[in-house]
Amino acid sequence: MTNKQGRQWRSMCKGLVLGTLLTSCTILLYCLSTPQIPFHVPEVPVPYSCAHRPSQLHTTKPINSSQKPSERSCSPKVDIMFMKTHKTASSTFLNILFRFGEKHRLKFAFPDSRNDFFYPSLFQRSQVKDYRSGMCFNIICNHMRFNAPEVAKLLPTDTSYITILRDPAELFESSFHYFGRVVPLTWKIAGDDKLAEFLRDPHSYFDPEGFNSFYLRNLLFFDFGQDNTLQLDDPRVDAGIKFISERFQLVMLVEYFEESLILLKDALCWEMDDLLFFKLNARKGSTVSKLTPELRAKALEWNAIDWKLYRHFNQTFWNKVDAYGRQRMADDVAELRRRNRKMASICIEGGHAVDAGSIQETAMQPWQPIGEKSIMGYNLKKNVDKAHWKLCRKMLTPEIQYLTELGVNLWITKLWGHVRNILNW
Ligand SMILES: *[C@@H]1O[C@H](CO)[C@@H](O)[C@H](O)[C@H]1NC(C)=O
Ligand SMILES: *[C@@H]1O[C@H](CO)[C@@H](O)[C@H](O)[C@H]1NC(C)=O
Repeated sequence: MTNKQGRQWRSMCKGLVLGTLLTSCTILLYCLSTPQIPFHVPEVPVPYSCAHRPSQLHTTKPINSSQKPSERSCSPKVDIMFMKTHKTASSTFLNILFRFGEKHRLKFAFPDSRNDFFYPSLFQRSQVKDYRSGMCFNIICNHMRFNAPEVAKLLPTDTSYITILRDPAELFESSFHYFGRVVPLTWKIAGDDKLAEFLRDPHSYFDPEGFNSFYLRNLLFFDFGQDNTLQLDDPRVDAGIKFISERFQLVMLVEYFEESLILLKDALCWEMDDLLFFKLNARKGSTVSKLTPELRAKALEWNAIDWKLYRHFNQTFWNKVDAYGRQRMADDVAELRRRNRKMASICIEGGHAVDAGSIQETAMQPWQPIGEKSIMGYNLKKNVDKAHWKLCRKMLTPEIQYLTELGVNLWITKLWGHVRNILNW
């Protein structure tokens, strides 16, 4: 056997083992996840709000009509549904939400034993750890396939629904790269540049029934609980977009992350300090697009529903920025960037992200995609002063470790990590 054949053979074996493992895990999880709510317990309606108000009121400043609206006193909105879409910088946003939740002592609706709500099956509230009817939860933010009626039966009526989108061509490239190995459809694609080969003739490779095939087409639309394989002119596409725009108060854009955060601060009455962030879970070299203009065009054509969805919310996004004031937005973004740079110089060794191999503390190691170590991370500076140490650490903690710190038991996720270590993936 030549070297190349050997490699193909090995990767096929790995693929088979992986497929088998994933399938058994899924079956096991389905068995474990059968609803645990007994029939005789009466359904208690969700409360109007889960904010414990007195502690959350800002110090009341006298209202002065010439002040900007966000500077008027209001209490921060703490009941939040964040629809975490895939490959959209949402790990960075989760870190912001985790810190906000800890600051206000909020109750998160977490999944049990893993870091998502049994994705890609539709969200069920029985999947929430310790769920009982009538309980108060403030925030839900782990990966799920959106299921509006179930979410509405879990969270208080005053919940703010927010989400984030990304340019679908970039998202497709990222998803193809990150999830390709768990999509058997991609295994038979020949050549070194599988993505280009796939886009050359996607219909010959794609099968909507294929295991995990949703990672390869209109992943955003799928995450929102919609059918990702519809024809673009199907009326259910526009209906889906309309449904999302009615349900979500704020749809952020990865490409304008800081602007998005400022809109969020405005919508939820947060403070600038709540928005501080370091870019987490970034792929090496991800700042430059890997798509040629031709591939980009093909990727957008292939993900036409997501492209329509994205353009719709790009429009509403800039309408919001106009309403906020372009200059005011520019000033606020500059201020946020200035503060983030300051935090980076305080917290981060060398001031920037490094390869996985150069991260000294295991607690700071990000979760890697199968088959490589392409996700970058950070080293916390050695002698950060006492006043900043805690915030620095929190801001740098990767999602999985932070979830563990917040008390989520991740045995399935961790077991999976060990299996991968043993197989050296
Ligand atoms: C309102 O604020 C402006 C500037 O911030 C100030 O000039 C004005 O006197 C204030 N008015 C009142 C009623 O406090
Ligand atoms: C998003 O909207 C802005 C402002 O209307 C526009 O300049 C830009 O071309 C739009 N981008 C996309 C991808 O549609």
